[in-house]
Amino acid sequence: MKNIKIDLTNAIPFINQDDFNKYDKLTAEKNFLINNKSGKGSEFLGWRNLPNEISQELISDINSTAKYLQEISDVIVVIGIGGSYLGSKAVIEALSGNFDYLQSDKKIPAILYAGQNLSEDYHFELLDFLKDKKYSIIVISKSGTTTEPGIAFRLLRKDLEKKFNEDQVSKRIVTITDSKKGALRELANKENYKSFDIPEDIGGRYSVLTPVGLLPIACAGYNIEEIISGAKSLLNLSENSFNENPIFQYAAIRNALYLENKTIEILANFNPRLNFVSEWWKQLFGESEGKENKGIFPTNISLTTDLHSMGQYIQEGIRNIFETIISVDKTKHNLTIPSDDNDLDKLNYLAGKSIDYVNKMAEQGTSLAHLDGKVPNIKISIPEINEFYIGQLLYFFEKSCAISGYLLDINPFDQPGVEAYKNNMFALLGKPEFEQETININARLKKE
Ligand code: PA5
Repeated sequence: MKNIKIDLTNAIPFINQDDFNKYDKLTAEKNFLINNKSGKGSEFLGWRNLPNEISQELISDINSTAKYLQEISDVIVVIGIGGSYLGSKAVIEALSGNFDYLQSDKKIPAILYAGQNLSEDYHFELLDFLKDKKYSIIVISKSGTTTEPGIAFRLLRKDLEKKFNEDQVSKRIVTITDSKKGALRELANKENYKSFDIPEDIGGRYSVLTPVGLLPIACAGYNIEEIISGAKSLLNLSENSFNENPIFQYAAIRNALYLENKTIEILANFNPRLNFVSEWWKQLFGESEGKENKGIFPTNISLTTDLHSMGQYIQEGIRNIFETIISVDKTKHNLTIPSDDNDLDKLNYLAGKSIDYVNKMAEQGTSLAHLDGKVPNIKISIPEINEFYIGQLLYFFEKSCAISGYLLDINPFDQPGVEAYKNNMFALLGKPEFEQETININARLKKE
């Protein structure tokens, strides 16, 4: 078994080596806070030992529920927003073929998403697409009160009610929510929906290895036990000392670069199947670290595509960025570049070479060019994209995010800033109990 690897060669020149040596001790101290549950937000550390704790009974329940949903559905709609959908979408897209969604003869139902935006057109078009489909719903909300998934669930539930009788409708709905509280829990109990709990001590962005991520992933036909095994292998590795611990090293180098005013981190991949892993990563780090006027701003690019759009800025724009490259050692398929008798495009020098060889040279060339352009870059390598290594990658980022947040001295497990837009939206919408806020916001809008 191989492991995820980290290479800091192109980042080390940008930091003070003596200062960096301190992270050996600092990361171990922060890890102790996590293990000992004595740091900020320690009531949300349920994810830490989750890969070891998830029961065979729960895995079997998830797999049999997925099998049942697959049997009765052409399409499974996952309703959720933020941490309630990004993890499953990231994993499903990473593991799926790039064009799987276009194959109508697939035995596995297509997985679609709803309630991750408030676009009227998106939801109209989704309902239109579903009009002649047998579909089921997995509705995910820890709080059970989030507006976006709430509206989508209401729409889709009403639509199912037009197509099926009461009993059939309730068999097509699975809820994943808090075990005791919230509107969704209440509804699930009342309507007798099949239901999974989100552990109280696991926040949305850390929930991918709970039923929140695992049920949709199993519905898409992927092996959730392998994902958990991958995460478990990294959990074991995460207790190693600094030099043998890529998690500590990643958390440390990010913070060391941040102290050198590198305030933007770009996650780059050379494989479009990983684009949504970047979206998941962005939420994980952005929502965990962006607090108290601190934190690295996480953003992402897909290469080589974005070298033709963002490459110029990265090479020569403001020098406050660093890059983290996810490199995949081995491709799933093989394809070589053909020879051409005329060679008008002058590409015969590459004939017989694999496309991945060219991609890897682009990767190396980009790292060096960015190094020369004073953009530190960190390389994280996985042997290949499969369930096991995706499980490793998820746990790698989860744990390094927690350690990194503690190095920054913030609480990585809360998200107080997310409420601000909701309060304004509720005031503008005239939500009951927001009467005073409605008066205030309307007065403010008139003045401005
Ligand atoms: O990570 C988080 O906590 C958030 O992104 C939530 O997942 C998101 O706001 C959705 O919340 P809920 O699952 O309560 O509907």
